[in-house]
Amino acid sequence: DGDVFKYYSDGEWKKSSSGKSVSIINPTTRKPQYKVQACTQEEVNKVMDIAKTAQKAWAKTPLWKRAELLHKAAAILKEHKAPIAECLVKEIAKPAKDAVTEVVRSGDLISYCAEEGVRILGEGKFLTSDSFPGNERSKYCLVSKIPLGVILAIPPFNYPVNLAVSKIGPALIAGNSLVLKPPTQGAVAALHMVHCFHLAGFPKGLISCVTGKGSEIGDFLTMHPGVNCISFTGGDTGIAISKKAGMIPLQMELGGKDACIVLEDADLDLVASNIVKGGFSYSGQRCTAVKVVLVMESVADAVVEKVKAKVAKLTVGPPEDDCDITPVVSESSANFIEGLVMDAKTKGATFCQEYKREGNLIWPLLLDHVRPDMRIAWEEPFGPVLPVIRINSVEEGIHHCNASNFGLQGCVFTKDINKAIMISDAMETGTVQINSAPARGPDHFPFQGLRDSGIGSQGITNSITMMTKIKSTVINLP
Ligand code: G3P
Repeated sequence: DGDVFKYYSDGEWKKSSSGKSVSIINPTTRKPQYKVQACTQEEVNKVMDIAKTAQKAWAKTPLWKRAELLHKAAAILKEHKAPIAECLVKEIAKPAKDAVTEVVRSGDLISYCAEEGVRILGEGKFLTSDSFPGNERSKYCLVSKIPLGVILAIPPFNYPVNLAVSKIGPALIAGNSLVLKPPTQGAVAALHMVHCFHLAGFPKGLISCVTGKGSEIGDFLTMHPGVNCISFTGGDTGIAISKKAGMIPLQMELGGKDACIVLEDADLDLVASNIVKGGFSYSGQRCTAVKVVLVMESVADAVVEKVKAKVAKLTVGPPEDDCDITPVVSESSANFIEGLVMDAKTKGATFCQEYKREGNLIWPLLLDHVRPDMRIAWEEPFGPVLPVIRINSVEEGIHHCNASNFGLQGCVFTKDINKAIMISDAMETGTVQINSAPARGPDHFPFQGLRDSGIGSQGITNSITMMTKIKSTVINLP
């Protein structure tokens, strides 16, 4: 069936022997847009085998050559930004301009991995024994970083290309091979991205991409004995994976409930524009989106008015028209968001706009006077709905932030830098942004979550290091 996109194994595009496919539903039309292969467990076994063999040779390939191929893949990816962005528009309803930005950012990320990799991996350590009591200078220790082996990369639907390359780039420069399981929504964009690596001429089997049903190959992949590291970005599934995975390094980023704390002295226009950008870009479907505003009562009315005025200007509609607010990824996601909105309604939240939904398209909604007994005070809507909780002290804000199961990022708005630093120190999150909305980038910055937000730290440098292990060789002098 020529309509089904092939999967990538052993340097070739293949049909699955299952004869089955998985449909990708366009969130805007809610009709099937593309189909991908439903790979089998045997096909996964094959991919793991060849990934293991390919990695051995790749680890011996000079670092500068690995870097050269990555630079080539980055350039090819950027050349093909238009068709890849089009897939993102159709598969995940990402606004057209943001879709192009995602691909360009991905090319830059790959190049940066190559540059960073040659530096940090091209340097080791040399130790002598005589610094430890009782030792003569009779042992020299050479320390280097070696690859882990086969990395399993599982990115989420919201950045199927960028959050795939943020795993692929570090893995490959560090001498690992890589098996990619893209999200179903976004799989075709990911397959196109993989094709750019194919065109760049990477060795056969070094990168593979298997598509299919989570129920068939999900656990099989994550529990596969051939996997030496899992890098996962997504939701609760990550917690289940971490319980089932073997004794291998895990890198996980599992969402957030990023708080925006607003103090009385803040620049309220800056606050409002960051709340709107942070809360509503890609319709709130970012783990780093502002997901709760904690504003001091004395400035709350002013902040809510300013945000309302900006929300009124957001365009709502199809991603092809580059609207600000586009349909959320699936019907079940829209239903979940609606559930949170209805719960807040029953419990007396103030609706700053009328709640409106057509299919998967939900109009942007600001909920004021949200209280801690409402689900939306704690849960992650992953949609264009933003709760405002009015606070009477900074401590109250910090307490709400730290009582969350999540601890990804947070932000604080104030002109007092000393206060900002003290609040940052008190907020138990992986990152705190002062006077700007949370964001993962620039992509070489460390990116990590506390509690249910994840394990390990990402960002280009940290990911490269995380995807290696230490090897020592000790020279014993006569
Ligand atoms: O939702 C995934 C997360 O990595 C967000 O990235 O660039 O939108 O802050 P970004």
